[in-house]
Amino acid sequence: MEAKLQRRIQRYGWDAAADIYERTWQDNLTPIHEQMIAMAGLRPGDNVLELACGSGMLTFRAAGLVAPGGMIEASDISIEMVELVQGRADAMGCDNVAVTRADAEFVDAGADSFDAALCGLGLMYMPDPVAALSAMYRALKPGGRAVLSIWGERRNCAWADMFPIVDSTVQSEVCPLFFNLGAGDNLAMAMQRAGFERPLIHRIDATLGFYDRTDTVEAMIDGGAVALAAKRFDAATRAHVEQAFLDSIAAHARPNGGYDIPSEFVVAVGTKT
Ligand SMILES: C[S@@+](CC[C@H](N)C(=O)[O-])C[C@H]1O[C@@H](n2cnc3c(N)ncnc32)[C@H](O)[C@@H]1O
Repeated sequence: MEAKLQRRIQRYGWDAAADIYERTWQDNLTPIHEQMIAMAGLRPGDNVLELACGSGMLTFRAAGLVAPGGMIEASDISIEMVELVQGRADAMGCDNVAVTRADAEFVDAGADSFDAALCGLGLMYMPDPVAALSAMYRALKPGGRAVLSIWGERRNCAWADMFPIVDSTVQSEVCPLFFNLGAGDNLAMAMQRAGFERPLIHRIDATLGFYDRTDTVEAMIDGGAVALAAKRFDAATRAHVEQAFLDSIAAHARPNGGYDIPSEFVVAVGTKT
């Protein structure tokens, strides 16, 4: 798919998901966010570049750790996400978060000026993830580290049929290469192309827990990457997609409602030499 179109789908798709993303995903993403923050080793006074910040779940964790004296320069392609982060920073009186709308592949932050860079579950959506990794590499001070997360191998993410199910009902092409980076050594190779010489890659088994059917389809259909396509469903298509998706994860149903869906994350750390 043409890169420009893919970026528009991401931009407006995440605008559509912004309202419910955090509520539907926070519990399942907290462990991976905590792990990323621990790996970043942030200290008071550090300046941090964050790409694809979403609703700010990593942003505000990081902001607390770098105060006093440190700043988080965050950005996301979705204006709705950016406004959520700005609104929360204003409401909290948090003055060390600066957030702007930007495509991570074209971010031009000051060279050699950040102690750390973060990108949580964002690279899979970008037509050119190496460009975003290169932007992080360039922005880091020598010795600075980038901490990234993505979803892992398709076969280890038992919810993965969501994409073909949606694509078969409406022409969506949400994420043609969604699982590409999580396969084999692809993330390490992309990081090396961006300049990170010896990236450390950790594969992490996870279980996505959802309380009931509503909770599950809300997170998967409305709170994530396929939200834009879902806006185009009529009632019958919506019912069909929900049922087809629930059938695809039936093996992971809890005995009394809800689901425990096997999944895999990859967390990576790269240091600028
Ligand atoms: C799954 S959310 C992750 C948000 C946050 N980093 C977190 O860990 O909760 C993916 C985010 O990537 C953003 N995104 C997708 N493509 C992007 C791009 N090319 N540049 C910047 N952000 C992008 C989306 O708008 C969305 O907010």
